[in-house]
Amino acid sequence: MNLYVASNAEDFAERSASFVRDRVNENPRLSLTLPTGSTPLGLYQSLRHDHDRGNFQLDRASVFMLDEYLDLPTYPRGSFVEYLRAHLGDLVFNATTKRHTMVPDESDAFMSTYDRALDDVGGIDLAIVGVGRNGHVGFNEPGSHVSLRTHAVALSSDTLNDNFADVSENERPTRAVTVGMRDLLEARTVLMLISGRAKRDVTSLLIDERVDESIPATQLLTHADLHVLVTSDTVADRVSA
Ligand code: GLP
Repeated sequence: MNLYVASNAEDFAERSASFVRDRVNENPRLSLTLPTGSTPLGLYQSLRHDHDRGNFQLDRASVFMLDEYLDLPTYPRGSFVEYLRAHLGDLVFNATTKRHTMVPDESDAFMSTYDRALDDVGGIDLAIVGVGRNGHVGFNEPGSHVSLRTHAVALSSDTLNDNFADVSENERPTRAVTVGMRDLLEARTVLMLISGRAKRDVTSLLIDERVDESIPATQLLTHADLHVLVTSDTVADRVSA
C-alpha cells in the first residue's frame, strides 16, 4: 500500500487530482469508477477547473458510477447521478465520454448489463473509491463477500445515519446498488480517498495493514497497486503529512 497524508483540504484535492490527471494522460482511454460523498468534492472541483480551461478531458474514457440508491423516495433529488451531474458537469456529461450510470433498477438484467459493460472495457483501470465510517467501499457494506459483482444491498443503519443525518425516516432509502468487491479487487489501480476524523478507526486498520475480511476497505489491502490518500485529521498523530 502507498499511503499519502495531505496537510489540508487543498493539498488533498490537488494530490488526488494530479494522481488522476497522470493516469488519464498515460491512457486517455482508461476506465474508471467515480465515487460520491463529500470526500471527492475537491478532486472533482480541480478536474473540472482544468477541464473548463481546456487542459483536461475524459472524452475518450469510460466512466462507471460506483453506486446508487435503489429506493430513494425523493429520486432523482439526492441521487448519486444527480450529484455527479452537479459536480462533474460536462467533463463527464458530454456527447463523447462513455458513461455508465446506475439507475434504481434491482433486476438481474440490470446487474448483468452493468457487469457486461465492465467486461467489455476489460475491467476497471482506475478504481477511485471513498470509504464509509464503517469501512464500506461503494456500497459494499461490512460483511460483503469479495466474490460479488454488481449487486443490490440493504444499507446499514450506520451508513444511513451518516448519509441522511438530517433527513426524516420517510425520505431515506433502504437499499442501493453497487459495483462489487470482485471488480474493485481486480482493478489495475485503486485510489482510495479518506477524509474526516470519523474515519480514524478504519484508517488505523489500513495503516496497520490489518485485513479484516468483514471490512471492505481492508479487503483492498490485498491489492497490488493500492494508493490511499488521507487527510491529516484522519490519521491523528500516527503519521505526519
Ligand atoms: C457513500 C458512498 C460511498 C462514499 C461514502 C463516503 O456512502 N456510497 O461511495 O465513499 O459515502 O462519504 P463521505 O465522503 O461523505 O464521507
